Amino acid sequence: MPTLRLGYVGCGFMAQRVHLPNFSSIPDCELVALAELRPELGGKVQRRYGIPRLYRTHQELIADPAVDALAVSAAFSAQAEVAADALHAGKCVFMEKPMALSVEQGEEIVAAEREGGARLMVGYMKRYDAGNELVRRYVRQFRASGELGRLQYVRNHGFLGDWVANIDVPLEQTDEPTPPMAPARWPGWLPEAQRGAYADLLQQYTHNVNLMRWFTDAEDDVRVKVVDLDPDGQHGVVILDLAGTRGVLETGRVSYYRWDEHTQLYFQHGWLHTWAPPLLLRQAPAEVELWRGMAHEEQQTTRLIPKLAWTWAYKREAEAFVRRTLDGEPYESSAADTLIDVRLFEEIFRRHLGI
Ligand SMILES: NC(=O)c1ccc[n+]([C@@H]2O[C@H](COP(=O)([O-])OP(=O)(O)OC[C@H]3O[C@@H](n4cnc5c(N)ncnc54)[C@H](O)[C@@H]3O)[C@@H](O)[C@H]2O)c1
Repeated sequence: MPTLRLGYVGCGFMAQRVHLPNFSSIPDCELVALAELRPELGGKVQRRYGIPRLYRTHQELIADPAVDALAVSAAFSAQAEVAADALHAGKCVFMEKPMALSVEQGEEIVAAEREGGARLMVGYMKRYDAGNELVRRYVRQFRASGELGRLQYVRNHGFLGDWVANIDVPLEQTDEPTPPMAPARWPGWLPEAQRGAYADLLQQYTHNVNLMRWFTDAEDDVRVKVVDLDPDGQHGVVILDLAGTRGVLETGRVSYYRWDEHTQLYFQHGWLHTWAPPLLLRQAPAEVELWRGMAHEEQQTTRLIPKLAWTWAYKREAEAFVRRTLDGEPYESSAADTLIDVRLFEEIFRRHLGI
């Protein structure tokens, strides 16, 4: 097997706690370079992971011919700029979500893919969760066979909680100030006073809308029907039409010690229900329940356990990026697909503000 020579941009929380440990433990992946605007932090992380080369800027890393592909996690606009520059240079990219703050910025990233002939994978780790993969497989199977009747309702409840789950992977620190970043590319219609609320809703619930679209194979056949959010733009309900199936997103905040997120797909005669683990709880996929109802002789509730019983969505996401970049097969979370979510969130927030 060839090896993917990966460069990583940004040494912040997600890089150190999640992505660098994951990429560095994948046999077909070699971390060959790091870029970090804060040199002391970059040096500490370089030494911890034994990465041969350290650059200050992502442009220097992109220009390194020994870097086949790169990964980036940073502030929203900073990471979008890094992704676009790398794609232009013909290097495949893994980036954290959200891909872009606006459709305009997202379209530029998709254009950069086209122009550079490279591909972007966006970090929707829920699509790589072994429990969620099982749910999707069963939804498709039941829809094809019709044995549970029509898929009539999808509900995603996402009230957050403690996503960090006491992860104890070492975190190198620095007192160096964060250097100035590229200005954020907000949608033109968004009032300045609403930027924080828009970004909070987008960066959190883009995961949930993306997952509902994936479970239902709705792709871009999605309409925003109703938006009923509190004035803070964070608590409430959004109703979508997911290729003919009603999808309800419940947004809110609780100080729960776990992670209060679950998705339920209701057929006429049964449901699939998946509970997300606290996000950084390693080796714990979503828990899945299947209920088969009245169409069967006896009703059944089954706890479905994926064959890969103890796995971490973020690790499987990193493995998928390495594998798909090497074999050229499509990413499960592509730039073109992600653009649909950015479009939906612009519409959701416009409706919320009545603009
Ligand atoms: N998938 C998830 O569940 C999940 C969870 C949390 C955060 N995130 C995403 O992760 C991202 C934030 O990551 P973070 O908290 O690790 O960020 P961070 O701010 O802690 O770290 C970013 C680092 O990148 C460096 N940097 C920025 N631009 C750079 C450039 N051009 N070249 C070199 N270095 C550069 C900064 O100096 C900083 O050290 C956000 O996009 C957020 O949405 C995703």
